[in-house]
Amino acid sequence: VGRGAAGRGLPVPLVVGHRGAAGYRPEHTFGSYQLALDMGADIIEQDLVPTKDGHLVCRHENDITATTDVADHPEFAGRKTTKTVDGKDLTGWFTEDFTLAELKTLRATERIPDVRQRNTLYNGRWQIPTFDEVLRWAEREGEKRGRPVWLYIETKHPTYFRKLGLGLEERLAKALRAHGRHRKGAPNFLQSFEPSSIQRLGELGLRCPKVVLLDEPSVRPWDFVEAGDTRTTADLLKPEGLEWIVGFADGIGPWLPQVIAQDESGKLGEPTTLVRDAHAEGLAVHPYTMRNENSFLPLDFQVGKDPDAYGDVFGALKAYF
Ligand code: G3P
Ligand code: CA
Repeated sequence: VGRGAAGRGLPVPLVVGHRGAAGYRPEHTFGSYQLALDMGADIIEQDLVPTKDGHLVCRHENDITATTDVADHPEFAGRKTTKTVDGKDLTGWFTEDFTLAELKTLRATERIPDVRQRNTLYNGRWQIPTFDEVLRWAEREGEKRGRPVWLYIETKHPTYFRKLGLGLEERLAKALRAHGRHRKGAPNFLQSFEPSSIQRLGELGLRCPKVVLLDEPSVRPWDFVEAGDTRTTADLLKPEGLEWIVGFADGIGPWLPQVIAQDESGKLGEPTTLVRDAHAEGLAVHPYTMRNENSFLPLDFQVGKDPDAYGDVFGALKAYF
């Protein structure tokens, strides 16, 4: 992966620290981002959602129930609510109902503490990072290392937030411009499961590489649902779908089984034609997400429950590919 129009000049394969080093530290914290960088990740991934007062913060979703200690804050008990996000009814606490100052009083927690090296040891250590803080951190780390720190930035629920008057793309464009990261060749990829978000980022003059994420085949991107567009992900995976995507994006981010077929037991096996088809259109292919439970990797990254015994996981991955 990493070949094609996007990612030229970067090493192949690229290792993206997905939500940082999320197998070892609570996701989307500076603990997680810093560890991923120190472990040798080429790129660090952020998911973006907004606060009530319009700041971009790094969370995988706007529901912060599972990844913060918000439930332990009696002053926010009344903020717990039920709402519909992209057609799903959810109950919890949501970033768009908190100001940044309020969110900063919370601490990040591990989402799934019982999996592999994950644990609760680091709960409470880090705040929720803002995207501005990440940009400043990347600049400092880049200067220290003598090479830019690449970021892989995702807009989460962009149509939902646009309807709330909290458009993600304008805020992202402003932040990237302030750091000179809007230009062609700037050290960041932009990604979204909603193609219209990627189109909007292009309209806002962002020339850095942009990637359309592809969900499971039966899923309709939420912006398609809102616009009455009946196409599903399966349609976007076809050559005509890829031809449409290359009109405004540089790459696709398919779900892993779309590039390596999965049998009934979930075991991954033979490559599909998707990489070839996408490369024929000039699209880069950045699949998500490589985990050691995907049995096609003949590597065992499970090194027990010692949270600091992570070893050279990324080096092993690179050597394998
Ligand atoms: O980079 C692709 C990946 O980030 C999409 O999956 O749900 O972890 O954001 P998700
Ligand atoms: Ca993501």
